[in-house]
Amino acid sequence: MTAIAYEKVKEKLVQTPKTWLITGVAGFIGSNLLETLLLLDQKVVGLDNFATGFQHNLDEVRGLVSDEQWQRFNFIEGDIRQLTDCEAACKDVDYVLHQAALGSVPRSIADPINTNNTNILGFLNMLVAARDAKVASFTYAASSSTYGDHPALPKVEDNIGNPLSPYAVTKYVNELYADVFARTYNFKTIGLRYFNIFGKRQTPDGAYAAVIPKWTGAMISGKEVYINGDGETSRDFNFIENAVQANILAAAASEEAKNHVYNVAVGGRTTLNTLFTALKENLTSNGVDYAQSPVYRGFREGDVRHSQADISKIHKILGYVPQFDIIQGIERAMPWYVKSLK
Ligand SMILES: NC(=O)c1ccc[n+]([C@@H]2O[C@H](COP(=O)([O-])OP(=O)(O)OC[C@H]3O[C@@H](n4cnc5c(N)ncnc54)[C@H](O)[C@@H]3O)[C@@H](O)[C@H]2O)c1
Repeated sequence: MTAIAYEKVKEKLVQTPKTWLITGVAGFIGSNLLETLLLLDQKVVGLDNFATGFQHNLDEVRGLVSDEQWQRFNFIEGDIRQLTDCEAACKDVDYVLHQAALGSVPRSIADPINTNNTNILGFLNMLVAARDAKVASFTYAASSSTYGDHPALPKVEDNIGNPLSPYAVTKYVNELYADVFARTYNFKTIGLRYFNIFGKRQTPDGAYAAVIPKWTGAMISGKEVYINGDGETSRDFNFIENAVQANILAAAASEEAKNHVYNVAVGGRTTLNTLFTALKENLTSNGVDYAQSPVYRGFREGDVRHSQADISKIHKILGYVPQFDIIQGIERAMPWYVKSLK
């Protein structure tokens, strides 16, 4: 199915360019948003403190756009925990895409205070600054972790359970604050509940790396791949280009579509065992042979067992149509990993 709404919004943006703020611009999702927006000749302000983002992500985007497009990018090194940094970043901005946060369930279990400060105080600062700057729209990165222990599959936006980690609490509090800002100040936002996004520039390094880059990195360097649990844990893995589409549609959404949260996923479900095989096979076709079997170990604290989204709400209201399933996403992401890590 073609993404008709997405094509129309992009066409309109090229005709009437906007000024965007991407927080967390040096991170995985932020730098992919930056790349797409600059290629659409938009003006972009980026805010990041390099807590988990990298200068090399920005440098890579710089190499993928023209000089003229790069000149439309203004980077501010700053911290969302500082209201003044948020205020400076929001100045004269039309659309905010708020991505900055400390991700990772295990990180939040190890260090709940830092996760709380960035994800809740930082979020509140961004809401206040964006409201006061009277931006036209504010879209933020919510999370599928908000479904917590709710057993139903697929996940429908209105049915959530109890959070299973400090990270999940912070992402749920974001949604509560967003709703209160709509009621109290008539400042309406859109929350995008991402389900396991993957793609180029997602780091394979560090204790808190996500599963696809972590395993891909391990396979490329011939190291062991660990599976937490029996491998039948499942996720709705979603390729980055689909998440970029969701953000751009959300930014341009009508007033009626605002003060809502939307699932951002494919609507599929892949087990870790299947993922292992898919990555291994794809690496073989990219010239990397990984002969080892995975090593199974205990389940990880705070992890939900199964995750799969119902994407009918975002399809119906925003016109979102995912363009890549997990296999197509892996096919597109893998050459980048092989080139960057080999
Ligand atoms: N990747 C996923 O699968 C996924 C799933 C659900 C939700 N999310 C959310 O999406 C957003 C982006 O995630 P990502 O995967 O790109 O992670 P990432 O770690 O690559 O990017 C986050 C960026 O935010 C920046 N940042 C962190 N603290 C900051 C602060 N105090 N001030 C300014 N910048 C700060 C980091 O330096 C980094 O560049 C996050 O809000 C995350 O919680 C991601």
